Amino acid sequence: MQTILITGCSSGFGLETARYFLERGWNVIATMRSPRDVELPDSPLLRVLALDVCDAEGIRQVAESAGPIDVLVNNAGVGLLSVFEGTPMAAVRSLFETNTFGAMALTQAFLPQFTSRRSGLIVNVSSSVTLMPLPMLATYTASKAALNAFTECLALELAPFDVRVRLVLPGQSPETPFGQNARALMEAEAVRVPEPYADFASAVIQKLMGAVGPLTHARDVAEAIWRAANDPACPIRQPAGADAVAVAGSQPR
Ligand SMILES: NC(=O)c1ccc[n+]([C@@H]2O[C@H](COP(=O)([O-])OP(=O)(O)OC[C@H]3O[C@@H](n4cnc5c(N)ncnc54)[C@H](OP(=O)(O)O)[C@@H]3O)[C@@H](O)[C@H]2O)c1
Repeated sequence: MQTILITGCSSGFGLETARYFLERGWNVIATMRSPRDVELPDSPLLRVLALDVCDAEGIRQVAESAGPIDVLVNNAGVGLLSVFEGTPMAAVRSLFETNTFGAMALTQAFLPQFTSRRSGLIVNVSSSVTLMPLPMLATYTASKAALNAFTECLALELAPFDVRVRLVLPGQSPETPFGQNARALMEAEAVRVPEPYADFASAVIQKLMGAVGPLTHARDVAEAIWRAANDPACPIRQPAGADAVAVAGSQPR
C-alpha cells in the first residue's frame, strides 16, 4: 500500500487531495499548521500531523515520524494580491518562506529516503499565474515561478535515482479560502495600495472579481496529483482546472 504526505491539509486543495487518496486506499499523512476538526473520514489509513512548513525543527520531526513515504505533495501556500511598491519586504519574505522555501525545505528533508530507496515522487503545487504576467501578482508569481524553476532543475538531478518530480499548476479557484487567507496575510503585514495606484488597483481588483469563465475546482487539483502519482508518463507541468488548461494551451511551445 502506498503512502502520500501532503502539506496544508486544513482546507482547499490539500484537504480535497487527502480525501481523494484516502477514498482510493492510500495511506495518507495529512499535515496542517494547527490540526483541527476538518472534514476528513475517520479512517485507519489516515494520520494527521502538525506541520508549519516554515518551521525547520517541525519539518525535521515530521520527516522522522512520517516513516517511509512514496509521494510528497508540497501544497501549503499563501496568496498575495498587491501593488509591489506597497508590499513591505517582510510580506515578500513571508510569502517566499511559505510558497518557495517551505517546499524546498520539505523536499530536502525527504530526499534522503527517496534517493537511498531509488524511488519516490515530489509534487509541487504551483499556479497557472506563472504562465502569464499579471498586475498586482508580482510577488506571488515570483514565489511560484521560483518553485517551477527549482522543480524542473531538481527533476534532472533526481532522474538518475528514479525519483520523479512534478508540478501541478492550478487555475483560479474561488471555492477555497485562499483569497480570505491572502487578505489575512495582507492585513498582518500592513500591505497597502499607495495613493497613485488607487484607480489602477481598483480596476484590476474589479476585473478579477468580475471574471466569468472556466475556473478550477479542488477536485481538478486532486485528480492532477493522482495522475502524477499513478502515471509515470505524466508531463512535468500539469495544468489543473479548465482555466489553467486553457492558459497552458495558449502558450508558445
Ligand atoms: N485557490 C487558488 O485560486 C489557487 C490557484 C493556484 C494555486 N493555488 C495554490 O494551491 C495551494 C493550495 O491553495 P488553496 O486554494 O487550497 O488555499 P487554502 O485553502 O488557503 O489552502 C492553503 C493551505 O496552506 C496552509 N498553509 C499556509 N501557510 C502554511 C505554513 N506556513 N505551513 C503549513 N501550512 C500552511 C493553510 O493552512 P492554515 O489553515 O494553517 O492557514 C492551508 O491549509 C497553494 O499553494 C496555493 O498557492 C491556489
